[in-house]
Amino acid sequence: MESMVPKPLEVIPTHSAFGLNQYTAIYTSQTANGFEEVGQFLADKIKDKINLRLSVNESDAGSVERIIYINQSDSTALDGKESYQLYITKDSVILNAKTAEAAFRGVQTLRQIVPEISNDTLTEHPMWLIPTGKIIDRPNLEYRGGMLDVARHFFTVKEVKKYIDLLAYYKYNALHLHLSDDQGWRIEIKSWPKLTEIGGSTEVGGGEGGFYTQEEYAEIVSYALKQHMLIIPEIDMPGHTNAASVSYPILNGNGKTPKLYTGMRVGFSTFDTRKDTVYAFIDDVVREISALTPGPFFHIGGDESHVTKKKDYIYFVERVEKIVQKHGKRMVGWDEIMQGDLDKTSVAQHWNTEKNALMAVEKGAQIILSPAKKAYLDMQYDSLSKHGLHWAAYIPVDTAYIWTPKKFIAGIPEENILGIEAPLWSETISTGSELEYLAFPRAIGYSELGWTTAENRDWENYKIRLADQAPFLERMEVNYYPSKLIDWKKSKHTERPILKD
Ligand code: ACM
Repeated sequence: MESMVPKPLEVIPTHSAFGLNQYTAIYTSQTANGFEEVGQFLADKIKDKINLRLSVNESDAGSVERIIYINQSDSTALDGKESYQLYITKDSVILNAKTAEAAFRGVQTLRQIVPEISNDTLTEHPMWLIPTGKIIDRPNLEYRGGMLDVARHFFTVKEVKKYIDLLAYYKYNALHLHLSDDQGWRIEIKSWPKLTEIGGSTEVGGGEGGFYTQEEYAEIVSYALKQHMLIIPEIDMPGHTNAASVSYPILNGNGKTPKLYTGMRVGFSTFDTRKDTVYAFIDDVVREISALTPGPFFHIGGDESHVTKKKDYIYFVERVEKIVQKHGKRMVGWDEIMQGDLDKTSVAQHWNTEKNALMAVEKGAQIILSPAKKAYLDMQYDSLSKHGLHWAAYIPVDTAYIWTPKKFIAGIPEENILGIEAPLWSETISTGSELEYLAFPRAIGYSELGWTTAENRDWENYKIRLADQAPFLERMEVNYYPSKLIDWKKSKHTERPILKD
């Protein structure tokens, strides 16, 4: 059980083993919403990992000897919506959870403790031995997100889905999609079709760009939801809006004729913050995207609006907050938005300026921590890294792991910390494999910063558990960066083609 990431709150081993084999079956609570799907998900992942197909909720189970039971429980011991408990004995694995979401988190733990290798000497049929004991677990932080910039370079639905699969395995519960920037607009807006026709036509370096139709975006949202992850859509404004302004020049406020942009500079674009048409446009965009997004959040960007006058910027974010709220969402923005007189329900994503984060606290607002020098996945590991930038820092795997989100900024009370997010900007990457090189293994460490308490985190111990992730990453064909700080475990099964497309 020692290789789990993120490390659970409490693990009490009882030094025996549950034998998983063809006589094991999965059962779930059937009246509770979503539990059977969680059981099916577990069955599929066990099949992928060890090529053993377990039945789910089959009543005719004459040959069943041992069961895995995913149980909806209202026990008061389960505090919080993602809290679960696993009881593993010689005869049964019982996963208790109040919600399907919590059961899904528990299933990730179970996936990790099913061994890759069966013990074939003990019995006639292969048997995979799961150590017995009790696991009591819940997250340290409520929001645990990744972010993918699909604007600087476009990533396909398939690439995004694979990223969701990997993040969900490490108990992330959100993926923020940076859907617009100077170089590209990546989501179809039916009432403003040129955004994708023109604004979606290129990317950094001048490639062909791309965009998600609303159907494709909805497909991503629903794919994430099945793994109990929310999609947080971001339309970055009033700066980072060149692609929108090229599509509809009436939006532009920097006094120049907008042209498609394929470079990497920031801070040159702005909407005209004093034009009603701009707010009518934003209303349409927020309405159409919100209708496709079940989660509570809408991200308005708000960073690096260097050519927007400060008073215009403040007027803008305050007015856009009302639009976001009108469409039933909580506004999230990069930390600059907190210069405005905002509601306490709005959320600041801290990336750069501590003063802005402290202004959020003054307003009673919550903060997502994404400090660039610690949490930006696009920062190079070191000066030899093949991809990435280093304007904030070089971030080797240990630097990424060794910090405490709740204590990162002095003067921020714990209750103001909503969570942590690891943004992956894509100026220097354009393929799934390059994405994986920057995200892994660091994204695994951020999962532990979000889930595991500070008392349970320790670099020397984490390093060993991270090394044990190699077989999973290889099985998933993840192009992770093989940091020399880690003594990577070699998979015995890398040659076995059990991964399907
Ligand atoms: C940012 O990195 N401009 C939020």
